[in-house]
Amino acid sequence: MDRRRLIQAAIDNLPGAYAPYSHFYVSAALLCRDGTVYTGFNIENAAYSATVCAERSALFRAVNDGKREFEAMAVCGGRDGVITGYCAPCGVCRQVMREFCQPETFRILLAKSVDDYREMTLAELLPMSFGPENLE
Ligand code: THU
Repeated sequence: MDRRRLIQAAIDNLPGAYAPYSHFYVSAALLCRDGTVYTGFNIENAAYSATVCAERSALFRAVNDGKREFEAMAVCGGRDGVITGYCAPCGVCRQVMREFCQPETFRILLAKSVDDYREMTLAELLPMSFGPENLE
């Protein structure tokens, strides 16, 4: 996996975020097992709860295109699009990842830059999780 390329894709996508209410821009780049990369950013709404996060935007675009196997996601964000810290996925996004990604192997890169990032598995970010196997 080319981590720098994935992080750069997330960073390049950040200015497009639609965040007129919080002014907090978030972007994600999702690496599919077949090597394709899907980006997403947060899309806010005047009715705040209708907002969609960057991570789910990327995942839903990929799933809508028929992708079902994923390796990693890079996430970055910051106020007015300026990255100052590591931006961790919210709980809802972690649960949506859990639907499609293997907890022990799916890697999440919280990036400040291509050289400065923290890497975690989904299992580390969402321990003791509930997933599709629970309903078998
Ligand atoms: N946000 C994301 O896009 N991803 C996250 O995981 C955390 C929060 C967005 C939602 C909202 O548009 C803004 O950040 C402030 O919460």
